[in-house]
Amino acid sequence: MKITVPLLLEKKRKKEKITMLTAYDFSTALILDRAGIDVLLVGDSVGPIFSGYENTLPVTVEEIIYHTKAVARARKNALLVADMPFLSYQCSLEDAVKNCGLMLKAGAEAVKLEGGREIADLVRKLTLSGIPVMGHIGLTPQSIHSMGGYKVQGKTEESRKRLISSAQALEEAGVFSIVLECVPEDLAKEITENISIPTIGIGAGRYCDGQVLVINDILGLFEGFRPKFVKKYADLGPVVEKAVKDFIEEVKTGKFPDETNIFS
Ligand code: KIV
Repeated sequence: MKITVPLLLEKKRKKEKITMLTAYDFSTALILDRAGIDVLLVGDSVGPIFSGYENTLPVTVEEIIYHTKAVARARKNALLVADMPFLSYQCSLEDAVKNCGLMLKAGAEAVKLEGGREIADLVRKLTLSGIPVMGHIGLTPQSIHSMGGYKVQGKTEESRKRLISSAQALEEAGVFSIVLECVPEDLAKEITENISIPTIGIGAGRYCDGQVLVINDILGLFEGFRPKFVKKYADLGPVVEKAVKDFIEEVKTGKFPDETNIFS
């Protein structure tokens, strides 16, 4: 069944958990869509994961468009969300609407923006323009330098109140769901119970309406930092390495190609 924005809201109402994974390329997106994932996110994590950037800050609108087009060619049923990179929506409302609109032209069905109450006006403008918006609060990696590192957010009373108020402001402004990243489980539960749109957690515990992870993390294909909230569902790194070693060995020894791989 084709997943749409209204269907995600329906899932919250019916207490059906929502699943979301990142995807950056055509071949992987085909598999994730076929497996039945609800939401494919072309995350700005493409920077560190795909391009080897130190963080998400260098990612450009053009890069997200490129990967969104690739994933859109594979997607059949999943809702496709494009992540708006740093500086693509902070400079002016006009620029923001244009950049977000470009994602829909590339095949996305919604965009994701990091930020709380301060982006509420922009969310209003986007939703009025027909661009569905997913919010993202808690640990927002584009603010890494202001946060002083990748740290759990919402641990003090003040930060807790700010996050609760941001979730409400985003809902009022029209977002259709909110990613909660790296916040204490009880705070995520409180937010989830107090808004009518779905929350999708990453490092936010068990009570969110859905969960999101980075595909390379769950497949064991990323050798960088692996936070506590990640679960590795496969360990493909060593599998790929062994396959490559076998290929090298067989080419060197003349075992590959054999008669089954040749044209006559
Ligand atoms: O860019 C990304 O992959 C994300 C998810 C981790 C939510 O924003």
